[in-house]
Amino acid sequence: MRMYDILQKKRYGEELTREEIEFFIKGYTEGSIPDYQAAAFCMAVCFAGMTDRETAALTDAMARSGDTVDLSRFGNLSVDKHSTGGVGDKTSLILCPIVSSLGCKVAKMSGRGLGHTGGTVDKLESIPGYRTSLSEEEFLDQVERTGLALIGQTGNLTPADKKLYALRDVTATIDSIPLITSSIMSKKLAAGSKNIVLDVKTGSGAFMKTPEDAEKLAENMVRIGKSCGRNVSALLTDMDRPLGFAVGNSLEVIEAVNVLKGLEKGDLYEVSVSLATEMVSLVKSITPESARREVENAIETGKAFAKMKEWIGAQGGDTSVLDDTDLFPKAAFAYEVRAPKGGRIRKMNAEDIGKAAAILGAGRISKEDPIDHAAGIVLAKKTGDSVKKSDVIATLFTNDEASVAQAEERFLSALEIGRGNVPEEKLILKIIR
Ligand code: URA
Repeated sequence: MRMYDILQKKRYGEELTREEIEFFIKGYTEGSIPDYQAAAFCMAVCFAGMTDRETAALTDAMARSGDTVDLSRFGNLSVDKHSTGGVGDKTSLILCPIVSSLGCKVAKMSGRGLGHTGGTVDKLESIPGYRTSLSEEEFLDQVERTGLALIGQTGNLTPADKKLYALRDVTATIDSIPLITSSIMSKKLAAGSKNIVLDVKTGSGAFMKTPEDAEKLAENMVRIGKSCGRNVSALLTDMDRPLGFAVGNSLEVIEAVNVLKGLEKGDLYEVSVSLATEMVSLVKSITPESARREVENAIETGKAFAKMKEWIGAQGGDTSVLDDTDLFPKAAFAYEVRAPKGGRIRKMNAEDIGKAAAILGAGRISKEDPIDHAAGIVLAKKTGDSVKKSDVIATLFTNDEASVAQAEERFLSALEIGRGNVPEEKLILKIIR
């Protein structure tokens, strides 16, 4: 087999066989196929697309390109969730303990934040003592004992995706549904869970800016995941404004704790509960209505918060900060942003708010940047709220006072304040099963 022939076949829009796709992924991972041929492959896929059969073969080959996690000992109880990324998206911190308190087994690997979106691993590292790196044995033992462990992505999981993603990033080939599907779903397959719920976000702070594109991606990922033998469903959710009120690592953990303590409802509660409902419904094969009752009950009775403490404690974290969130280390500077004029907040561009939080130290511009766990933004107002001139709209937190002016400018550029009613936007646009 020759890579040249595979490239020519794809270029003319013909369907590749499973063997040809496996040949490409194996050769590229090992280094016998060079970057320039892999780049030509990605570009040909951008133009010619891929059939479901090809996408499933690509996903499967990428999933098997490195280590895989064997969760077969948990049978149908294992469940994972993936979000395409957002601003203020701390739903994993809320739904993992909820579903685990209801008998599901969560062996989760999460990423770090980059650009305007945050990462669950960074958020958890704001809890003093929390270990985001465990050996495979420790990881699986903890899932066995407590029903839940959450770590950073380990060494050699999907090396083909690591190489291909970096290549796509510099060859303008990120933007292809089969390539995004295989990238995301290969990581989920390798991580081993039988049940997978996807949170595909749409709007100003999302990777997919329009609902139409987000829906196409969600449908593709669900179909491919199912054809690879997993139970998969997807929620299409709004990311036109930040989710909840807090953006920034320890600030988001505090907000997640408040939701689990039953102290906060609103959009964050609704998206977290809806995702947890779908996870429980898949694992237990029960109706979404019954699953939702179980999920809400786990919050109301304190069972989910107790599970959060058990999980964080098992992973070395100091649980006293969860009982009393005032014990989290505080940023040295807190600065109130005031409304430049009165009216109704018509827009709050989530991407710009994520970027303002990153300027304060909460996020990374490049992969190696350190982050300030106490930095970020707490909103006092959200889209649709009325404000008077000089009302506080948000508080900026940072340890780097020099960043405040630029962050405030960025924050204010995210806002549109005007007159008239703001139509209520749907939080959950669609569920794809
Ligand atoms: N996230 C991924 O992990 N892969 C993509 O291709 C796009 C977003």
